[in-house]
Amino acid sequence: MNPFHYGSIVTDKDFCGRTEAVKQIQQHMDGGQNVAVYGERRVGKTSLIFEAIRRKRSHRALRLDLMNIKSIDTLCRKFISALGEMEQHAGFLEKFIRSIPALRPTVTIDPLTGMPTFGVDAAVALSASNLQQIIGLVKSAYQRKRLVVVIDEFQSVLDLENSQEVLAELRAQIQHAPEVPFFFAGSIRHQMESIFTSHDSPFFKSAIPMSIDPLTYDEFAPFLTERFEAGQRKVSAEYLEKIFSLSGGITGDVQQFCEAIWYVSEPGEEISQQHIASAIDILISREKLSFQSALAKVTASQMRVLNALAVLGGKAPTSREFLAFAGSRNASSIKKALESMDKQKLVYHTEAGWKIMNPVFRLYLHLTMEPRATGLGKD
Ligand SMILES: Nc1ncnc2c1ncn2[C@@H]1O[C@H](COP(=O)(O)OP(=O)(O)OP(=O)(O)O)[C@@H](O)[C@H]1O
Ligand SMILES: [Mg+2]
Repeated sequence: MNPFHYGSIVTDKDFCGRTEAVKQIQQHMDGGQNVAVYGERRVGKTSLIFEAIRRKRSHRALRLDLMNIKSIDTLCRKFISALGEMEQHAGFLEKFIRSIPALRPTVTIDPLTGMPTFGVDAAVALSASNLQQIIGLVKSAYQRKRLVVVIDEFQSVLDLENSQEVLAELRAQIQHAPEVPFFFAGSIRHQMESIFTSHDSPFFKSAIPMSIDPLTYDEFAPFLTERFEAGQRKVSAEYLEKIFSLSGGITGDVQQFCEAIWYVSEPGEEISQQHIASAIDILISREKLSFQSALAKVTASQMRVLNALAVLGGKAPTSREFLAFAGSRNASSIKKALESMDKQKLVYHTEAGWKIMNPVFRLYLHLTMEPRATGLGKD
């Protein structure tokens, strides 16, 4: 079986390193502290939080993922169904129904698992004012057995029409539950910062910030090497470094690359340039259709900026070299193209500059570009 995992959270034996961060999170859990976990995409924020909770065994996790939520109604429903999922307990069921009669709570039995699923009548529109009842339920679940509320992709709240009202009400209710630790994770740094560090945000200074970086090469490399070796594959430091570089050093992307390398190699082999090339082919073939449809939507000038980003990186997109590569005369048009592609989720901005969202897309761009020297694999 392929020992490399990507795309979902990793725990236990699949979780590498981060001893200090795990300890910090556990201390915050004990102290009932709220924590805001920031970090780039796919660095391992969610895995870190859940591994810290799992190892400690003292708290349950009430997990909500706010990715793509469109309304406060959905947010409330997510809370309620997460509560139901966590609290498969007859006493809670009764309390649940009694505490929110106006919302016409529903309990259905999942035909597959036989487990009750909690919800609220679809005809009822939930609003920020229902957060009081919901956090009340969270508190009573906490009293029965300790828990941590984990709200993932928290910055998505900003996409709600009445986001400030929702944030203000959520913050007020959370303050009424000081014993319950709330962990907020998010991958769009400037949005998370605007929630937790802007003076006029209801969440200003309401959580301890924790910034998560990708696993370093030194921490990750022995773990990966061991996995290759357990499957009788040898990988030299030179090739592991190459894998890191092609994946931009992002933890999840490194695992994705290793998964492909494993897929194209056989026991007894030593990983070589040939394996790297085949892995790139495999990775691209898996996503080619979505790349093609993404490219069909970009303009010619955005395309040139994308290619410049793929080749030169995005540390200095207004440098003379970048402008020349992108065939652009001014920095503002580059900025406009980047912002527009940010909205399309093709690129994103980090402290280290602009990046292409998906490292495989970057490799695809290299391969489809005009055959001028792209430097692929040299960095
Ligand atoms: N500690 C770790 N050890 C090994 N691999 C890890 C670790 N943390 C993360 N990964 C890798 O990164 C991938 C993404 O992890 P996770 O979903 O926790 O990241 P995330 O930062 O929450 O991502 P997203 O931005 O998509 O929410 C995992 O599937 C796994 O391949
Ligand atoms: Mg996550």
